[in-house]
Amino acid sequence: MRDLVLHKLSLLVEINQVVSRSLDIKESLETTLKLLQKSYPIKAGAVFLMDEDGEQLTMAAGVGYSSHPAKTKYHLGEGLTGRIAESGKPVVVPQVSKEPLFLNRMSSWNPKKDREQSFIGVPIILDYKTLGVLVVSLAFNPKRDYNSTVKFFTLVASALVQSIRLKRIVELERKKLLDENVQLKRKLHEEFSFGNIIGNSHEIREVYEQVAQVAYTDTTVLIRGESGTGKELIAQAIHYNSLRSGKPFIQVNCAAIPENLIESEFFGYEKGAFTGALSRKKGRFELADGGTIFLDEIGDLSLMTQVKLLRVLQTQEFERVGGTETIKVNVRIIAATNANLEELITKEKFREDLYYRLNVFPIFLPPLRERKTDILLLADYFMLKYSRKHGKTVKRISTPAIDMLMRYHWPGNVRELENCIERAVLLCEDQVIHSYHLPPTLQTAESSGTIPRLSLTNAVESYEKELIQDALKTSRGNKAKAARLLGITERMIGYKIRKYDINIKRFKS
Ligand SMILES: Nc1ncnc2c1ncn2[C@@H]1O[C@H](COP(=O)(O)OP(=O)(O)O)[C@@H](O)[C@H]1O
Ligand SMILES: [Mg+2]
Repeated sequence: MRDLVLHKLSLLVEINQVVSRSLDIKESLETTLKLLQKSYPIKAGAVFLMDEDGEQLTMAAGVGYSSHPAKTKYHLGEGLTGRIAESGKPVVVPQVSKEPLFLNRMSSWNPKKDREQSFIGVPIILDYKTLGVLVVSLAFNPKRDYNSTVKFFTLVASALVQSIRLKRIVELERKKLLDENVQLKRKLHEEFSFGNIIGNSHEIREVYEQVAQVAYTDTTVLIRGESGTGKELIAQAIHYNSLRSGKPFIQVNCAAIPENLIESEFFGYEKGAFTGALSRKKGRFELADGGTIFLDEIGDLSLMTQVKLLRVLQTQEFERVGGTETIKVNVRIIAATNANLEELITKEKFREDLYYRLNVFPIFLPPLRERKTDILLLADYFMLKYSRKHGKTVKRISTPAIDMLMRYHWPGNVRELENCIERAVLLCEDQVIHSYHLPPTLQTAESSGTIPRLSLTNAVESYEKELIQDALKTSRGNKAKAARLLGITERMIGYKIRKYDINIKRFKS
């Protein structure tokens, strides 16, 4: 008797060790069951764990069963296992043959072949909550002390709690992290998706981040970058992602307004302020009240206008031309320029105090040639945009054309790329933009400085080769069809294919 108790104790110690050694719950459970099978011994045993919603038990580990138990499930209250989970109390069935609730779902017992068996199941409980159920089958023994047997398995079950708890924590933690990740991504997406701004390069992402950072504030933003880099687009993105998005976004191109008109454009005028001022007119600052004013090409302002602008920036106050009433507005300022303001300051063409007023949060838009990875994305985007606009089906850009786009240095940045693709879409006849649809500036060696100069013959030949390859692609390698597409004879295309060493098999599919 003493020996038996000692044996059980040492078994419990061993189980505890197994459980504390591994973070892998399946492994802990299986090793425990195998230990019980070997040393106790049980005929079969399994651990069921409660699903997250607390309605179903799923087998997590099992030993000694003949059928495939991995998918065995019990609903709460179903069979003996389900009842144990529901009631939180152990169940002892000394003779399974006499128990109608014993479902034998895992075929642990074959009534025709096997000797009588006993079933013992104990709940695995933590903080009054049932986490699962441990069930075992034992050989029937009328002399067995079932009370102490249940006690023993209850102890085993409590040893398992630890590893189940750990697993739950790890899972919860993981789920929490995943949830947070999803939320973060959604937030990033909302904040960073400005719909019509295309680009995935590291450089443009940095710009998105800055926009997201500053949009919600009332901070003055100075957007810098070469012409055509998307400064206006960014200014709009800031406004439409700000709290002022429901209020006006007023744009002023400082370079486009003649010097003598700029004051009245900015601040408006009273009736009779000058000849032709037949009625009072609101200026851009007044129109922008509550919203955002975008001062584009700020570097082009005269020194005199700069002084007037500075006052508005400092006080948000001004008078209409020819008026005496002081008008107060609440306007957010976004300015943009491609000029080197610092240099203009040293040349005394730009006021330093105005510069500091504007340069609160500078955003720099890198030229397109410094973010080559965006070229393809933008080209595809414009291809779709303009094929829709012009009612044409253009499906792709040929590889040589892509090469050309990638090699070019894009002095006019995105605007130039946009114009170039729109033109190509208009010229294109066969759903594909080819290199010969691109403007001549992209075709010459000088423009990129990277491709060697081609002689006219070479250029014509490479053009011809490309045309033939495209026709073969369209006809899937059918020579006669390709010849028809090009309006030449089959003999002629055969000759050219040999001349240019075109591998026709490539096009057959
Ligand atoms: N990242 C971009 N995604 C999509 N279109 C762009 C992007 N950057 C610029 N564009 C387009 O290029 C053209 C020039 O952009 P714009 O904002 O006027 O440049 P900037 O004001 O710097 O001269 C516009 O038609 C604009 O829509
Ligand atoms: Mg612009």
